[in-house]
Formats: sequence, structure tokens, C-alpha cells
Amino acid sequence: MGMAQPKDQSVDMSVYRDDFPILNGQMNGKPLSYLDSASSAQKPRVVLDAIKTLYEGRYANIHRGLYQYSQETTTAFEAVRSKVAAFIDAPSSDEIIFTRNTTEAINLVAQSWAKANLKRGDEIILSEMEHHANIVPWQLLAKEIDFKIKVVPVTDEGKLSFGGFMSLIGEKTKLVSLVHVSNSLGTINRVDSFIDAVKSFNPDIKVLVDGSQSVVHHQVDVQEIGCDFFAFTGHKIYGPNGVGALWVRGDVLADMPPYQGGGDMIERVSFKDETTFKDGAARFEAGTPAIAEVIALGAAIDYVSDIGMDNIAAHEQVLLAQMTDGLHQIDGLKFYGTAPDKVGVVSFTADWAHISDIAMILDQCGVAVRTGHHCCMPLMERFGIDGTVRASLGLYSNSDDVQALLEGVKKAKEMLS
Ligand code: ALA
Repeated sequence: MGMAQPKDQSVDMSVYRDDFPILNGQMNGKPLSYLDSASSAQKPRVVLDAIKTLYEGRYANIHRGLYQYSQETTTAFEAVRSKVAAFIDAPSSDEIIFTRNTTEAINLVAQSWAKANLKRGDEIILSEMEHHANIVPWQLLAKEIDFKIKVVPVTDEGKLSFGGFMSLIGEKTKLVSLVHVSNSLGTINRVDSFIDAVKSFNPDIKVLVDGSQSVVHHQVDVQEIGCDFFAFTGHKIYGPNGVGALWVRGDVLADMPPYQGGGDMIERVSFKDETTFKDGAARFEAGTPAIAEVIALGAAIDYVSDIGMDNIAAHEQVLLAQMTDGLHQIDGLKFYGTAPDKVGVVSFTADWAHISDIAMILDQCGVAVRTGHHCCMPLMERFGIDGTVRASLGLYSNSDDVQALLEGVKKAKEMLS
């Protein structure tokens, strides 16, 4: 399924918690229990240091200067492109485009590949489980081009319906765009099976995978998944804000027109002759990029790779079980996302209080969770709710965080029911 299964459960993950300075802090006078990593992960010291070292040490713009600082910074920046390629097993670093985040990566595919290849009457397939970032760019483009958006239904346990998906594929299908791991429910989608099925029907149908939440929890292999586009963001994988990556399969990338124009993406600009563009990823990186952020993303990737994605996954599974078991012992909670294959995310509502009131009490207990629709309004609509309380784990989470959540929810129940 493009994600390796956890192997080594023996690693003591507690040693890594001290790498995250913010976790020694307090919130509302209580030790911070940060259970909102699906929203944005905290940053280890190596990531903070990478930014500081660059700006204090050898900062210069890249791809433009023949002097030492510019050359060294260019080398460090481009090394991250190779690092990202290796991290997701992309065949070539030339196929990695740096973006601001997953949202920008999906907008890039919509405005470049899709605008050039979709026409009136075509169909694309999304799912009810998508984040707004994988819905709205397509809706905006559909208004211009008048293609049809079909939607894969979600089962009661929070899985994509394979039968539902199969019934949507047809002669007019041009693109499928699916989330790998649900940010709201934690469900790990077998995107490889969906891709096998759609490519068997017609290998020309392109598939985009939103990997924002999957690269964080498991080793991802884009070649094994079999997609054409894979997008993820840096800030959820312990890197800085403002940087993400899009992998595009080489033959697809070769035919994609530019998305934004500007410096660094051109070969030659002229008022007399036609302006021409660079090949490959460079064609999609107009202007000065997020240099320090890309380099710090490299530090984040080294950091998680050194720990081992399998160890991170195994650690989170242990805590997920503790969190799920503990919450199930509290009366009146209803859970969303109960499929067996899940990452460390638990989403729930209570019949004794509104989710916002629960979150306010958790806040007073030092417990940070996300509350609301999680940028997945169609999914909330599917379940007939406005939102959930969502607790999500990171590699630094521990049993004390889980205990604080359980105590906080019990306190909320005492106070609110
Ligand atoms: N997509 C982020 C979340 O799930 C912001 O919270």
C-alpha cells in the first residue's frame, strides 16, 4: 500500500521529546500536552538550528550568485531536493517541485496539468473524505472548464468505499485525487488498490495523492503507490511553515505548462522572441523560494529518517491504543473513524456537551486539541455533525499526554453533564 508496516517496537522514543524545546512549556499553568500534531507538528532543535545557522552563517540567494555563499546555499538547497526524492522513493530529484504547502501543490496541478488537459464534460473523482485543499481548487477550475466532479462515498467506519469508487470510474474519467490518510479520522486509505483498479481500467487516468498526513506517520513509496502526483507539506513533518513538495512522474511533468511566471523558471525572456522556460521542476519554481525553510525541511527529514519511520509508527500505535481504550471508558462519547488501519488520530463528539465546551476545558488543563470541521466540511456533513474534538499524536507524544487528555475529558464530563 506504499507504506511500510512498523517493525521495531523496542526503541525508547521518550529520548526524543527533549529535542522539542516547546514541549517543556506550560499552557494555562499546566504542563503542555500537545495533541494537535495533525494540524501542525512542533519543531525539533535541529530544525530551529538549521534556520538560525543559515541566516547567521552563509545566507545568500540561490541559483544566482557566483560567490561562495550563494554557491554553498544553492548546494544545500538542492541537496534537499534529492533528500525529498529519496524520502518518498521518487525516481529522480528533478521531479520534486518545492511549493509553499500541500494546498499550493494541488493548486499547481489544477492550474497547470488539469487546465491543459481537462475539457468540458470530462470527469474527475474526489472523495467525501478530502480536505478542502483537495476540493476547492477543483471546484474553482470546474467553474471555468465545466468538468464534472464525482465523489467517492465514505463508509460508517470512515473508510473510502471501494465499490462506490469503482462505480464512478468511466470513459470520461480523467483524474482521481484522493487523500492518503484522513486528517479528521486517521483512516489509512489503501490508495494503491484504488490506483491499481483505475489504472487497469485506463492507464491514462492520472492520480494525485494528498500525502499531508501519511508521510508523517509511515514510510511512503510513491512508485509502489503508483500515483502520478504526490503532495505533502513540511510543517506537519516537524519542518517549518511555508514549504511543501510536489512529486510529479517524469513523463507527466515534461508536458506540464508553467503555473506562475517570474525569475528562475525561465530559459530566456525576450520582447522580440518567444520567452522560453526551463525543463522539469525548475519551470514551476518562479521567484526566490523559501530557502531557509527548504534547508530546514531537509533537517526535519534527516531527523525523522534517523529515528526511523517504522519506530515512529510503532510508538504512535501504542499511544493510539491507550488513547482509544481510555476514551471508550468514558460514557456518552461517539467516535468517528473506527476502521482498523489508522494513524494516531482520535475524533469524537459527546452527547453531554458541545465540542467547543470540551475543548475549552481541555485548554484549561493544558491539553491542546483541534475542534471543529478540520477543513473537511463534506465529511462532517456525511456524518451529520458540525465537527469533532480531534486528538492527534506526534513522535514526541507520550502516555502523560494521553493521561492528561483522558483526565481532561472526564473533568469536562463532570462539569458539563
Ligand atoms: N489540515 C490541518 C488539520 O488537519 C490544518 O488540522
